[in-house]
Amino acid sequence: MRVHEHTFDAIVVGAGGSGLMAAVYLARQGDVRTAVLSKLYPTRSHTGTAQGGIGAALGNMGEEDHWEWHMFDTVKGSDYLGDQDAIEVMCRESPEVVYELEHMGLPFSRNEEGRIAQRRFGGHTSNYGEAPVRRACYAADRTGHMILQTLYQQSIKNDVQFFDEYQVVDLLIEGGACRGAVALNIATGELHVFRCKALVLATGGYGQVWEITSNAVTLTGDGMFLVARRGVPLEDMEFYQFHPTGIRGMGILITEGVRGEGGILRNHEGERFMERYAPNLKDLASRDVVSRAIYKEIRAGRGIDGKRFVHLDATQLGAEVIETKLPEIADFCRTYLGIDPVTEPIPVQPTAHYAMGGIPTNVNGAVVGMHGEPIRGLYAIGECACVSVHGANRLGTNSLVDLVVFGRRAGLAMADYCRHADLESAGDDPAGPAREELERLWSTAGSDGENAAEIRREMKQVMMDNVSVFRTEELLQEGLAKIAALRERADRIAIDDRSQGFNLDLTDAWETKGMLELAHIMTFCALNRTESRGAHSREDYPDRDDENWLKHTLAVPRDGSIEIGYKPVSITRFEPKERVY
Ligand code: FUM
Repeated sequence: MRVHEHTFDAIVVGAGGSGLMAAVYLARQGDVRTAVLSKLYPTRSHTGTAQGGIGAALGNMGEEDHWEWHMFDTVKGSDYLGDQDAIEVMCRESPEVVYELEHMGLPFSRNEEGRIAQRRFGGHTSNYGEAPVRRACYAADRTGHMILQTLYQQSIKNDVQFFDEYQVVDLLIEGGACRGAVALNIATGELHVFRCKALVLATGGYGQVWEITSNAVTLTGDGMFLVARRGVPLEDMEFYQFHPTGIRGMGILITEGVRGEGGILRNHEGERFMERYAPNLKDLASRDVVSRAIYKEIRAGRGIDGKRFVHLDATQLGAEVIETKLPEIADFCRTYLGIDPVTEPIPVQPTAHYAMGGIPTNVNGAVVGMHGEPIRGLYAIGECACVSVHGANRLGTNSLVDLVVFGRRAGLAMADYCRHADLESAGDDPAGPAREELERLWSTAGSDGENAAEIRREMKQVMMDNVSVFRTEELLQEGLAKIAALRERADRIAIDDRSQGFNLDLTDAWETKGMLELAHIMTFCALNRTESRGAHSREDYPDRDDENWLKHTLAVPRDGSIEIGYKPVSITRFEPKERVY
């Protein structure tokens, strides 16, 4: 296998919203040689699927709003596990970055005064929980798509160098420092070593671990897996969010913006059941609360026709609101379901959507190890990172805020680091371990091996059945045993396609093995946390237990098992309270 070498000051891995924001800030410095490696063409990144809005307390809709209220809602939404110092940074800086995106050319929807339009979203309130507030700034229901296009244009304008369809398969982390990455050029099958002073992972989430997911097929958690196997812990992996409204059976996202505009969830009896579960915010309670309510309705036999879904009723919004503010989801309903949301309710079920946990970082994106020690030159941002602003449950719109606020901060911090750091040696054969791993996968061919697609299908089913919205010790133990068996089978995956270029058989196999490691860590952490908090709902431990569990989990694979550590939660302004919606 031929190996090519490149040297840059800074490398960005991933070309979604956070990666591109970091790249723009690095490139704007002028003196930091920057490259972006992406396993996709950049504008196909998953940020492009984010629909409903980006949260910022602009107060554009004739309602008062303040970043402190945004902060309170985010802390409460996180079930008090979010780090309040980081949440403060995010909520304070979000108005500034939203205006910055506007000035970059992002075509936001407008209110009657021509200002950025804002809509309601789950858990966002005025005056510390009093009533819903319009805080989500939107571009119809294509907000993420517009962010991605805008940032890509800015990257091109600022001469960022892109390596498209380069999949990172190893990180060069040694002696407490990151010295670069090894990537597979998917088009040629050749390996490339990228040496650098600073590297940021912006590789997104891992929703593909579940059967029903809103995540694109590329969301396989590569960055998280790569750092974990190099001995860097992952934080709060037990917290994974199911978005309440995915298209039934497919998981494709139907934005919370539908409920923000006035859409209502109904059970088989036509009842607006959220009135019983969240009398104040109703359909706009936080996602963990709404997803659990839907599951409870289904369990009680009140799913539509007794089946595993409910209805999202947008018929009262009228054609004009749907066609102008929610055109994308109208199109999805017509294309994938053959129904018209103007006149018919949308069949929905909770869908695996977002990882609250990930690679632990500080507020500048710098990665920290098990004991708070920095990993020199290594940064992480966006969904693969855990800063932790989402704690145990993320509020809608805060993922886009997280991407741009911390993408910008990481870009600036990396530029500063690069000016003072030296390029460290990456050894004589930095591509060696990656080459051996791919050759090992490659060497098993034919009918005696295991099929990666079949293993992936079984993993998704296990995670759906055993590690989803409601959990128990029994379910999690069973899940762990099944994942262990799948990991063992995955060592015998056979590659049928023998081509050198665009060998997706090979990359699928590699990703499947990585996802199994993440599924293992996630399930282990879910079993370990014997309380219910946010999206982690243990039926055998139904209460939140602040005395024992107001702390972050750190988990790292060690000798076939998982080593667990903890770190405290930063509490600055809001003491933990019972959450009432
Ligand atoms: O419902 C949505 O539009 C999703 C937004 C988000 O996950 O923040």
